Amino acid sequence: MAERLIVGVSGASGAPLAVELLRQLRDSHPEIETHLVVSRGGALTLRLECGMELDELKVLASVFHESGAIGASIASGSFPTMGMVVVPCSMKTVAGIVSGYSDNLLLRAADVCLKERRKLVLVARESPLSTVHLRNLCEASQLGAVIVPPMLAYYNHPGTVGEMARYIVRRILSQFGLGGDGYQWEGME
Ligand SMILES: Cc1cc2nc3c(=O)[nH]c(=O)nc-3n(C[C@H](O)[C@H](O)[C@H](O)COP(=O)(O)O)c2cc1C
Repeated sequence: MAERLIVGVSGASGAPLAVELLRQLRDSHPEIETHLVVSRGGALTLRLECGMELDELKVLASVFHESGAIGASIASGSFPTMGMVVVPCSMKTVAGIVSGYSDNLLLRAADVCLKERRKLVLVARESPLSTVHLRNLCEASQLGAVIVPPMLAYYNHPGTVGEMARYIVRRILSQFGLGGDGYQWEGME
């Protein structure tokens, strides 16, 4: 049976990271069945930041689910997956996850990952972070989610925004053992 990974896209800044992640999965891990769900905010930021319509993102995934389709396969714990990444993850979606308020499919799929003790990676993005955001992120971490903010790194000497995005996405995918080689710090003596 194919391994399945759920990719949630919410309305934080960083839609290009979702595009890059789906491309890397399609090109480097065609064996992984990707299940994409995009919130309304996610569709808006995709248009604003990438000039892309949802239909153009859908084709990068194996399966696309409407965010209102709460009866979809990924809404049930009996549907096996390796977990879920929310990229980018808004503070509203973090709040929904930590409170169990699953009023769209993205939130329900994340809720399922927590209850089934599956990997849940949140690429949480906001700046500056309020005390409410920090409190919710801390709670998400305590509940078992892995918080992977899209932080820049300079030790790999990125030359372009695209290179930075590729590096960030490989760090995200490494959480699922899918990051590949060539981005890790090898140490310096
Ligand atoms: C261009 C744009 C950028 C945004 N960036 C962020 C952000 O970085 N972080 C965040 O938490 N919300 C951000 N928002 C606000 C969210 O989109 C908004 O709170 C939305 O209701 C989130 O809903 P969702 O989590 O269901 O997608 C942004 C909105 C827009 C239009």
